[in-house]
Amino acid sequence: MNKKTLFSGIQPTGEIHIGNYLGALKNWVNLQSQYNCIYSVVDLHAITIYYDPAKYQETILNTAMDLLAIGINPKKSILFVQSQVPQHTELCWLFNSLVPIAELERMTQFKDKAAEHKENINAGLFDYPVLQAADILLYKTAMVPVGQDQLQHLELTNTVVKKFNNKFGKYFEEIKPIINEGARIMSLTNPEKKMSKSLGPNNYIALNDAPEIIRKKIMSAVTDTGPAGAAMSAGVKNLFDLLKLFGATAAYEKLMSAYDNKTLKYAELKSELAETVIVQLKPIQEKRKKLENNKKQVIKILANGAVQAEKIAQKNMAEIKQKMGLL
Ligand code: TYM
Repeated sequence: MNKKTLFSGIQPTGEIHIGNYLGALKNWVNLQSQYNCIYSVVDLHAITIYYDPAKYQETILNTAMDLLAIGINPKKSILFVQSQVPQHTELCWLFNSLVPIAELERMTQFKDKAAEHKENINAGLFDYPVLQAADILLYKTAMVPVGQDQLQHLELTNTVVKKFNNKFGKYFEEIKPIINEGARIMSLTNPEKKMSKSLGPNNYIALNDAPEIIRKKIMSAVTDTGPAGAAMSAGVKNLFDLLKLFGATAAYEKLMSAYDNKTLKYAELKSELAETVIVQLKPIQEKRKKLENNKKQVIKILANGAVQAEKIAQKNMAEIKQKMGLL
């Protein structure tokens, strides 16, 4: 049987954090033999907020190297940079005529980003989810592994599917999100909010953070914020979740029973978690360092990925344009 197509993307906005990793990227790696996977560094999405054009190529390359370091295998999957395949923006424009403005106004990511970047609320930020729908549907994707914050955008993608099929005849299948246990990792400093770079470097652990930084960030993570004796706080729950997601099952169970017996010292939980994270990230960091000396090879991988992606994109675009009366 033919394998189904799976697509996902990540913005090159600097460091990748363990929220991205546990929420989505770990799945990207694990799903590589089950599906035809297409993974993109979505540089066109990230220009909707402030970025430094002089450093952008370097940032994009760093993101690609992180993806290779965590285990994206270019022999199994297509890995490419979004702007190198022009059909993404072309399809975005075609979809623009199908998407009601009211649907875009509902998007929480747009509302959050608009509040955060009041001086730069541009049309690209508003149209962002339509470009995302184009990314996904350009490859007639079946599955999309993401963290929970992207579910609303995937719903919008399915709205595009319905509207397109109704208007121009059935062409796209509805997409299915793939969500895992780590779909919503919370901030270390503000555990009521999701881990995100916009909250500052102490709220997240970057994949490439050195052991002493990891220790420092985890040891100063917020634990109990609520009244004493209340149910487990969001901060403590997040630390336990992280311990489990990084695979320290025995320590998790031991510390959880201490918590239940009210004998748990948070410093113990934190230091167990810090050492676990350090050990788990070490092989990724080592691989990443090797890639650093092999940038030409990485650029080649991305160029080759773009050729492969464009081949599929060209074929599908021709069919889409025919359906829409544009060919
Ligand atoms: P981005 O670049 O913000 O994040 C990449 C992935 O990481 C997940 N994620 C999290 N998961 C768990 N806990 C967190 N705290 C956390 N923070 C981030 C995100 O859900 C995402 O899966 N719009 C997308 C990029 C994109 C895309 C696409 C995704 C563009 N086109 C097509 C899928 C399909 C984004 O901003 O991801």
